[in-house]
Amino acid sequence: MKKKWWQDAVVYEIYCKSFCDSNGDGIGDIQGVISKLPMLKELGVNCIWFTPIYTSPQVDNGYDVADYRNIDPDYGTLEDFKTLLDTAHKMGIRIIMDMVLNHSSDECFWFKESRKSKDNPYRNYYIWQPPKDGKEPNNWGNYFREGNGSAWEFDETTGEYYLHQYSIKMPDLNWEYEPLRREIYDMLNWWIDLGVDGFRLDIFTRFKKPEGFPDTKRVPNPTLDRNGFVVDPPMCTNVEGIHEILHELYTEVFGPRDCMTVGEGAGVSFDNAPAYVSQGREEIDMVYHFELGNRSKYHISPENFRKVQKNWATIFEKNGWAVQYLSNHDSARQVSCYGCDSEELRVPSAKLLATFLHTTPGTPFIYQGEEIGMVNVKYDTIDDYNCCYTRGDYFSMIKSGISPKDAIDTLAPKSRDNARTPYQWNDSVNAGFSTGKPWIKVNPKYTAINLENDLKSENSIFKHYQKLIQMRKDCPAIIDGDIEFILDNDEQIVAYLRRCLRQTLLVVANYSKEKASYTLPENLKGVKFNRLLTNYDNEEPSINGNRELLPYEAEVYEIVE
Ligand code: GLC
Ligand code: CA
Repeated sequence: MKKKWWQDAVVYEIYCKSFCDSNGDGIGDIQGVISKLPMLKELGVNCIWFTPIYTSPQVDNGYDVADYRNIDPDYGTLEDFKTLLDTAHKMGIRIIMDMVLNHSSDECFWFKESRKSKDNPYRNYYIWQPPKDGKEPNNWGNYFREGNGSAWEFDETTGEYYLHQYSIKMPDLNWEYEPLRREIYDMLNWWIDLGVDGFRLDIFTRFKKPEGFPDTKRVPNPTLDRNGFVVDPPMCTNVEGIHEILHELYTEVFGPRDCMTVGEGAGVSFDNAPAYVSQGREEIDMVYHFELGNRSKYHISPENFRKVQKNWATIFEKNGWAVQYLSNHDSARQVSCYGCDSEELRVPSAKLLATFLHTTPGTPFIYQGEEIGMVNVKYDTIDDYNCCYTRGDYFSMIKSGISPKDAIDTLAPKSRDNARTPYQWNDSVNAGFSTGKPWIKVNPKYTAINLENDLKSENSIFKHYQKLIQMRKDCPAIIDGDIEFILDNDEQIVAYLRRCLRQTLLVVANYSKEKASYTLPENLKGVKFNRLLTNYDNEEPSINGNRELLPYEAEVYEIVE
């Protein structure tokens, strides 16, 4: 297979609202991003994924799109966006846009028309159902636990319900309806004409709904689901017929334009992934999954890590390409979840996680702030939380009798707001993010954890990322190599070989808070190693015999003979 640009790429995800505010209104914007492109170039990334910056009432921070062909005034103008594209392209950085095609905002022109009458030309752009026995068409719940909990909202004007898997203000689009599909293809092609290099497809596995909208049999969660309406993700995920939809998207848009796509693989695991991303399928290029960065458990053991990486490497051995990431705008901070954010271990563990992501097979995705080891935040009151999930769950918990403090204690470590606090540029007011009042509170740890400080430090996390990104360019085994895990049953050590014809690398890491030692397997004894990278500042050891690693110590070696 001829290599595609996105296989060599390192993608950096920007949550525009929280990245850099250029005009002091407290909201990050496109001009802010433009001003920071040199920093991204310095880091070495060559692709940016923008979370949605289209016109939107911002109910779900832009995942509720009101105008798919324009930029939200909070973020700037279409002209600003064109300047960004141009500037980034000149610097060798590609831009991919987040496309939200499962639902739109209820303020989208299509929906405003659709709700007017049953014979409106836009009626079938959305999913309308008459009441069933005077009530909701079925017992599905909405993810954000809004209203009475149902995924259906009654609309007086026409006396019917519309489906919204997420917010009441985010009606689901009807992919069964060809005119809607045509409209979407035109719009995507319009962005490609403008110069965007690819798309991240928001929850693409839920475009297709099950026929006849059957009730879910799942039992309600007593603290969260309300009035018998149940949130049942598998119900509307990977439904038969989804592949036809994606294949048509590919043939009408992505394929002919050679446009990169990465899908948010809700409900995708290693066994059903090939059906979406194998080359002959002509659907999408890559998918990111939730098997490592599980949002509910937030723990990865060495055993877990090996198992997930092995599964994915096996299915992609001959066909398909992986995404490596641990956190994004929908999760808490990776160093707090999968590393350790204590004073001594934050830096080494942030670097260890980065080392994993940049030396395992696939394309690494960095989420803003990860490269300076930004950590979770905790606010005292729900008023300071913005995330729809956190708020929805909070109010359901309160209704079920849980105290506000207990509810916050439970929800805070998982809240998506952990990842959405303003980028910490320096230790000046508002972490250098804005001269105005930020739309969400800055993490108070910014005085210690910020880019400027990080760069001054000998232990800079940012510089570790730079080295990893450079290594990807220098070491063919990282992109082309296979992966073989060694020391397989160790409860602290994670170790693997990356091998291609021209090179063999050994990655060995102590994925634990205690010291750990290992002995290399027989076939690697007597082999000569050259250390390429470490996350501690120490002399290069000889690793022939037994070696002890410090907490979270991670090293990369090349076999030289
Ligand atoms: C995806 C997005 C998330 C959003 C949801 C609804 O999961 O990543 O941020 O809330 O879809 O659009
Ligand atoms: Ca602004």
